[in-house]
Parts: sequence; structure tokens; C-alpha cells
Amino acid sequence: MIEPDNLRDTKLALSNEAGAIPALGFGTLIPDPIATKNATGAALEAGFRALDTAERYRTEKEVGEAMQEVFKAGKVKREDVFVATKLWNTNHRPERVKPAFEASLKKLQLDYLDLYLIHTPFAFQPGEVQDPRDSSGNVIYDKGVTLLETWGALEKLVDEGKCKAIGLSDISLEKLKEIYEAATVKPAVVHVESHPYLPEWELLEFCKKNGIVFQAFAALGHSSQPRLPEDPVITSIAKRVNKTPAQVLLAWAVQRGTALLTTSKTPSRIKENFDISMLPEDAMKEISEGIKTRQRFNSVVQTGVPGFIPREK
Ligand SMILES: NC(=O)c1ccc[n+]([C@@H]2O[C@H](COP(=O)([O-])OP(=O)(O)OC[C@H]3O[C@@H](n4cnc5c(N)ncnc54)[C@H](OP(=O)(O)O)[C@@H]3O)[C@@H](O)[C@H]2O)c1
Repeated sequence: MIEPDNLRDTKLALSNEAGAIPALGFGTLIPDPIATKNATGAALEAGFRALDTAERYRTEKEVGEAMQEVFKAGKVKREDVFVATKLWNTNHRPERVKPAFEASLKKLQLDYLDLYLIHTPFAFQPGEVQDPRDSSGNVIYDKGVTLLETWGALEKLVDEGKCKAIGLSDISLEKLKEIYEAATVKPAVVHVESHPYLPEWELLEFCKKNGIVFQAFAALGHSSQPRLPEDPVITSIAKRVNKTPAQVLLAWAVQRGTALLTTSKTPSRIKENFDISMLPEDAMKEISEGIKTRQRFNSVVQTGVPGFIPREK
């Protein structure tokens, strides 16, 4: 049994005086728009103060509506919520960055963003089609722009004051180093898949050393196989500390110094996922060192095409 504590309120400082990001974050990659709006509202009611969306998820409008309802009801203030969204692959050309950013802001009904991420390091053919393909079905990449040029356009958004922090998503350590070394405004956040089956220790170490917040998505393994919440190490710790497997996984992520994103359409799980407490040191060690399974659930890092390996229910 562990005592209630304030692990859920953990915040991580951002570089470039951009404030701090709540470690416990709620993701809105939910295919159904009504479910997205309801889940976002429920997450704010449950206590989540960091939200993640993306142009590509097509959920910005619903996230915006849910936030407005909660703000108007006086329950939460805009400045108390950390809102992040992402630039899609078809908008990497520098002249497309600001219009894409402003379109996202408008859908979110906000006048500034806390964090803007480059969704993937892959540039796709610019245009309105989010998944451009040739006649053989292959993705059409854009060779006319580098990631550093796109980064430069994001730096301008920070200079203009409309965006507090900028970062990179689905990035390798090698590519991160390139941008980190060349950047004027250093990446404040790196947002990648991570959980005990994909701990990314080397990337985390680089981030910690260089003042970059590491934000882990799919913190519960996205309900994919092999199911992380059913891992025997996780279930035995959960029993021991009288918490659920999901709460153990989320606590592990926060205690090892990362921010995280979890998602649920289910109100009871949303509350459960906010109700985390510190794990004892031996449990932290068992998860970090005792779990040997290695599994990536999302292949987006390889091609820039979003895609969780299909869930087996
Ligand atoms: N940058 C990228 O390329 C990228 C890619 C993927 C995701 N993301 C971001 O990361 C966020 C989180 O990713 P994710 O959806 O994979 O998160 P996740 O939390 O690992 O997985 C969500 C799944 O876990 C289930 N779940 C949630 N809470 C649970 C609990 N307490 N017990 C048992 N099952 C539970 C949910 O089911 P129910 O909904 O049925 O409750 C849902 O099926 C996304 O929403 C998105 O914002 C970013």
C-alpha cells in the first residue's frame, strides 16, 4: 500500500524560459469527434493540465470546444492548461509553417500555444492532401526542404511570442543532435513513443543532460499486444502497492523523469490515470531492469506515416 502524494502534480521545467510542462498529459488521438470532446472535458475535470493534439489527428476543433466549455464554466483557466499541437508533414516548407500554426490556433480557439512540435522529421509533398501518394501507392516525400529549415520557421514563432516552446516528435537521437547543435532556440521537448518495452534510455539521458523534456507517448502501450498492463512484473507490483497496472506504468514514467501522454475514452479510466502515486525504489528498479521484452507499437518513426501496429482485442 502506498500513501497519496503529489506525484500527479509533477511539472518539468522547459528551456528558454518557457515555463513548465505538467508531467501527466492527456492525448487526444481518438478517432471519433464526439468521444474526443467528451474525453478532453473529462480529462480537464479529472485534473489533467496538459493536452496534446495535432493537425493530423483532426481533433483540434473538438479539443478547442471542450476547453472553451471548461474555461467558460470557470472551472479551469486558460493559463493553467498546457496545450500542445503539431505541424504536419505536408507543411514543412518554411512559408507553410505560420499559416499551419495559425490554422491550428484558430481551431483550438486559442491566442497562443504552449508547445508546437514538428510531428515527424519527414517532409511530405506540400499541399492539402495529408497523405500524398504516387500511382503505386508510395508516399511522395518533399526533398526541397530540410528539417533545419522547418525548425527555423518554428523559431520565428517563438520570437513572435505566439508559441512558448517548440519541439520535435518521432525523432531519432542522431537527428535530434543535429538540430540541437544547429538551433538558435533549442528544442524544449522531445515527444516519442516510450514505455517499459521501449525505454529509450540513451535518448532520455541526452535529453536530461541538455535540459530537454522527454515526453513519452503510448505510455500504456496503446492497448496493443503484447499488453503492457498485463506484464507479470507490472501486475505483481500493482497488487503489492494496491494500484492498477495503468497507474504503475504512469508512475514509473513520471518517476524516471519523463513527461507522458496517455489517452482514454472511458471516464473511469481517465480518473484512474490521474490518480497516481510514487512507487517504492525496488518497484522502479524491477520495471527498469527486470522487464526484458522490447516492442515498438508505432511505426511512424520509420516513414513518417502514422500507424500503430493494429490492436488485437
Ligand atoms: N507523435 C506521434 O507520432 C504520436 C503517435 C501516437 C500517439 N501520440 C500521442 O500520444 C497519446 C497517447 O498515446 P496512446 O493512445 O497510445 O496512449 P495509451 O494510454 O498508451 O493507450 C491508450 C489505450 O489504452 C487504454 N487505456 C487507457 N487507460 C487505461 C487504463 N487505466 N486501463 C486499461 N486501459 C487503458 C485506452 O482505452 P479506452 O480509450 O478504451 O479507455 C486506449 O485503448 C495520443 O493520444 C497522442 O496524443 C503521438
